[in-house]
Amino acid sequence: MSKNFDVIVIGGGPGGYIAAIRAAQLGFATACIDEWKNDKGGPAPGGTCTNVGCIPSKALLQSSEHYEHAAKHFADHGIGLKSLSIDVAKMVARKDQVVKQNNDGILYLFKKNKVSFFHGRGSFVKAVDGGWEIAVGDEVLTGKQVVVATGSSARALPGLPFDEDKILSNDGALRIGAVPKKLGVIGAGVIGLEMGSVWRRLGAEVQVLEALPAFLGAADEQIAKEAQKAFAKQGLKVELGVKIGEIKTGAKGVSVAYADAKGAEKTLDVDKLIVSIGRQPNTTGLNAEAVGLKLDERGAIVVDDECRTNLPGVWAVGDVVRGPMLAHKAEEEGVAVAERIAGQHGHVDFGLIPWVIYTSPEIAWVGKTEQQLKAEGRAYKAGSFPFMANGRARALGDTTGMVKFLADATTDEILGVHIVGPMASELIAEACVAMAFKASSEDIARICHAHPSLAESVKEAALAVDKRTLNF
Ligand code: FAD
Ligand code: NAI
Repeated sequence: MSKNFDVIVIGGGPGGYIAAIRAAQLGFATACIDEWKNDKGGPAPGGTCTNVGCIPSKALLQSSEHYEHAAKHFADHGIGLKSLSIDVAKMVARKDQVVKQNNDGILYLFKKNKVSFFHGRGSFVKAVDGGWEIAVGDEVLTGKQVVVATGSSARALPGLPFDEDKILSNDGALRIGAVPKKLGVIGAGVIGLEMGSVWRRLGAEVQVLEALPAFLGAADEQIAKEAQKAFAKQGLKVELGVKIGEIKTGAKGVSVAYADAKGAEKTLDVDKLIVSIGRQPNTTGLNAEAVGLKLDERGAIVVDDECRTNLPGVWAVGDVVRGPMLAHKAEEEGVAVAERIAGQHGHVDFGLIPWVIYTSPEIAWVGKTEQQLKAEGRAYKAGSFPFMANGRARALGDTTGMVKFLADATTDEILGVHIVGPMASELIAEACVAMAFKASSEDIARICHAHPSLAESVKEAALAVDKRTLNF
C-alpha cells in the first residue's frame, strides 16, 4: 500500500470518515487513521458517534420506548399483555449489533471509495517538503494535506475518574447490565436527559442534579418549560441550581453530597452515577505541541471559520474544534474541508445547525430562540401550534408539546423554529430547508402538507405567526 497520500485524515468519526470519503470522491489519494477498537481488538470506525454516542444511545432509547409503550400505552389501544419483561442483556446485545452494522458499513464505504484505512493512533512526526509525516504504528505516511478529526471524550468531575462500574461516562451508561434501582445523573444536558430517560423507562428511579438554575438553557424558554413539565410527569426528577460536594463510592453504591438551590445540604444515594457534564477535545497522542499545532485554553484545536489551523496544510473539524459537539456539524465541516482542499467553496452555515434531544417528547430546534431575539433587540413575531390539536398526534396517542415559529416582524423571514413533541427530530428538517432558502413563515403556511400528518403542525404554527391557525 502506498504511503504517500494527498490527504490524510486522523480520526474516523463522522467528521473524519466523511471528510475522507469526500476527499476520495474528489480524486485525492486519501488515508483515514482511526484507533477505536472493538471488543476483539479489531477496527471499529465511526468514532464516538457510532460506538458510544448517537447510534447506541438511539438504539437503547428505541428499545426502552417500546417497553414503556407496552407497559403504559398498549392498553389504551385495546392491546392486552399477560406479562411484560425486559431482558437487558438482549437489549444491549441488539444495540451492539446495530453499532457493528455501522462499523462494517463505514469499512465498506472506505473500500467503495478507495480510502486507505489504517487502524492505530496517528500522530504528527514533522513537516516535510510539501506536506506532513504522520506516524501510525510502525509506519510513517506522508500527506500533502492533513485533516485532524480526533473528536472528544467525556469530562470527569475533578477527583472522580470514571470506573464505568459505578461512576459512568456515556460509555458505561450504554453498557449497564441490569436496570439499577436508583440511578443518579450529574448534568441535565443532552446525555443526562437521554440516558436518564432510557433507564427511567425501564424502571430505575432516576434523579438528575444540574448546576445551572435554568432547565435546558440553550433551548427556547417556552419549549424548555414544556419539556420540563413532561419529564416531571414521567417521574424523571431534575433538581436545578445544585452545587455538587463530596462523592463517595462504596460496596453499596454511590453517595453524592450536594447543596440544593437554597443552600440546604443534601445527600443522594444511588446504585450508579452517570456523570454527563460536557466533553473535552481529544488531542493527546497527536504530538501537537512538537509541531506547534495551536490549542485554546479548553484544549480545542484553534481554527478559523474555514477549519484551517495555524499550520500550513493542516485542517481540523468536528468535536476537536469550536462550535457545537454534534455529528452532523462534524460531517458538514468534513465535507467543506475536502472541497476547500480541492479549491472549491465548501460552506457550513453555523446558524442553521439543528439540535435534537431524543427524549420523549423529543426536543428539536434550529435558528434563534425567543430569548436570543429579545437580547438582540430584534423585532419578531411568534406563532405556535399544540400537537393536542393535530389529528395524527391524537391518533398516535402522543399529543404533548407544540411547534413554535419565530419570524422577522417586518420581512416575515423565519428566524427560528422550536419543537417539543412527537417526531420533532424529523419535523425540524422542514424548518432547516425553509430557513436555508430564507423562506418566510407565509411560504410554509401556503405549502400543502399531507393530512393527517404531524407536519401539519409545522404549517399551522407558520399560520399562527399571522394569527390565522385553522385547527386551533
Ligand atoms: P468522534 O466521533 O469522537 O471521532 C473521533 C475518532 O478519532 C474516534 O474514533 C477516536 O478514537 C479517534 N482518534 C482520536 N485521536 C486519534 C489519534 N491520535 N489517532 C487515530 N484516531 C484517533 N451528536 C448528534 O449529532 N446526534 C446525536 O444523537 C448524538 N448523540 C450522542 C450521544 C452520546 C452518548 C454522545 C457521547 C455523543 C452524542 N453526539 C450526538 C455527539 C457526537 O457523537 C459527536 O459530536 C461526534 O461523534 C463528533 O464527531 P467527530 O468525528 O468530531 O469525533
Ligand atoms: P451538555 O453540555 O449537553 O450538558 C452538561 C450539563 O451539565 C449542563 O447542563 C451543565 O450545566 C451541567 N454541569 C456541568 N458541570 C456540572 C456540575 N459540576 N454539576 C452539575 N451540573 C453540571 O453535555 P453532555 O450531556 O455531557 O453531552 C456532551 C455533548 O454531547 C452535548 O453537548 C452534545 O453536543 C453531544 N450530545 C448530543 C446529543 C444529541 O444531539 N442528541 C446526545 C448526547 C450528546
